[in-house]
Amino acid sequence: MPAEIKRIVLSSDHTAITLRQAIAGHVEGRGWDVVDIGPTTLESTPYPRHGEAAARRVASGDCRLGIILCGTGQGIMMAANKVRGIRCGVCADTFSARMIRQHNDANMLALGARVLGEGLAIDIVDAFLGAGFDGGRHAPRVEMIRALES
Ligand code: RB5
Repeated sequence: MPAEIKRIVLSSDHTAITLRQAIAGHVEGRGWDVVDIGPTTLESTPYPRHGEAAARRVASGDCRLGIILCGTGQGIMMAANKVRGIRCGVCADTFSARMIRQHNDANMLALGARVLGEGLAIDIVDAFLGAGFDGGRHAPRVEMIRALES
């Protein structure tokens, strides 16, 4: 997918619906084509299902990036990282959100809805979306991560 295509998938479990929807509106306002794959009800639903579904959209090339949320961000991140081609980090600060793009070429960001307020979560999203992969010395390291998948 060409780098200029701004299509992003969002998903979460039941703990993060309100925050996910706020992020979706914000990201759309920044000119991204948002694919929000739910869920939309507060009914309890297992985070691995939604982490995997979002990760497959990114791994297939349908979406360039993904943002996923659960209570802590941890469980849904673990599930997403099991999908080949996914590099997802949980972030609770803007520095890490920038670094996972610049150094690790992360293609997904995980957030904890029970950890973060909406303002900080949106700042973290902006830091993630605003950064790109630096390449250079980081490229062979990311290649080493990829090699672990084979
Ligand atoms: C759901 O209660 C909670 O376990 C989940 O949202 C997440 O925090 C798991 O990592």
